[in-house]
Amino acid sequence: MINELKKEIDQAKTTFLKEVGEVQSQEDFRNIKEKYTSRKKGILTGFLQRLKDVPPPDKPTAGNAVNQLKVLVETGLNEAEARLTALKATKETHVDPTLPPFVYPVGRAHLLSAIRKRAEDIFISMGYEVAHGYEVELEDYNFTTLNFPEYHPSRDEQDTFFIKDFPDYLLRTHTSPVQIRYMKQHKPPLKIISPGKVFRKDDPDATHSPVFHQVEGLLVDKNIHFSHLKGTLELFIKAFYGENINARLRPSYFPFTEPSAELDISCFMCFGKNPLCKVCKGTGWIEILGCGMVHPKVLSNCDIDPEIYSGFAFGMGIERIAMLKYEVSDMRMMYDNDLRFNCQFG
Ligand code: PHE
Repeated sequence: MINELKKEIDQAKTTFLKEVGEVQSQEDFRNIKEKYTSRKKGILTGFLQRLKDVPPPDKPTAGNAVNQLKVLVETGLNEAEARLTALKATKETHVDPTLPPFVYPVGRAHLLSAIRKRAEDIFISMGYEVAHGYEVELEDYNFTTLNFPEYHPSRDEQDTFFIKDFPDYLLRTHTSPVQIRYMKQHKPPLKIISPGKVFRKDDPDATHSPVFHQVEGLLVDKNIHFSHLKGTLELFIKAFYGENINARLRPSYFPFTEPSAELDISCFMCFGKNPLCKVCKGTGWIEILGCGMVHPKVLSNCDIDPEIYSGFAFGMGIERIAMLKYEVSDMRMMYDNDLRFNCQFG
């Protein structure tokens, strides 16, 4: 009888070890626990009940064997439970290195902001300060104080946004009124640049927009000559477009500078070698900005004595210099807020 019992217990051990090793889920675990330890029908309970039928001399041996099985079942179940918990934890934090990475979108400066910042940095490195004016400006500062004659076409309603019911005001057509505001408030030496929005009644197309951006520059001091203007702009152009780019000045006209000039840069696309070049239209030169020596009348309009002081000024379109630097073919792309465009810069 005792031998029979021991044999069965040994078999139960082997089966248990096999089954407990195969536990994969909570359900498997519940089933095996039930099968071996249930108070009513559990295998262990069955052996324990059979102990009372074992003749007294064999009781210790039989009891020992059942107890061994009990310890084996308990440890086996504990281990299986721990294994399941660990498995669950690894599943939850499982990292699959073969998945494509989730790329967090990182913000970038808009092309116009990046270009403005670059221009500011170059001039700041030459000792300029950044000054700001107003987008809604006095007609007087936008035109009259800047020496525009009464009949100048840009004073026409066709070209400029005037403000209904406020006849003295308009949306500034250029950043040059910042020159006036600054000179009225500060005494020379003055050295500023002023970036900002400007407004003109233009229909939008690839190279025009009713709202665009300019950077104005102004320097006033004693003994300032045209050569200072030329040197300053050359430095800027080389820093902005590259050392291999040359600049030339061409006579022009602005009411608030005398003499006045346009600055052209050598074509970075064809270097003057392609008569069909789209960027320079075969001329080898690209028009970049307007500039000149501050008109003596403008200085005296701002209570600066033109006999003592002289200065230069320049103004450039931010969209224009950005389009040329990055070969952007249509200005409107800068206002469309298309991330495929915006994310290429800044
Ligand atoms: N204000 C001029 C324009 O908008 C540019 C300019 C600025 C020219 C300063 C000369 C000096 O075209």
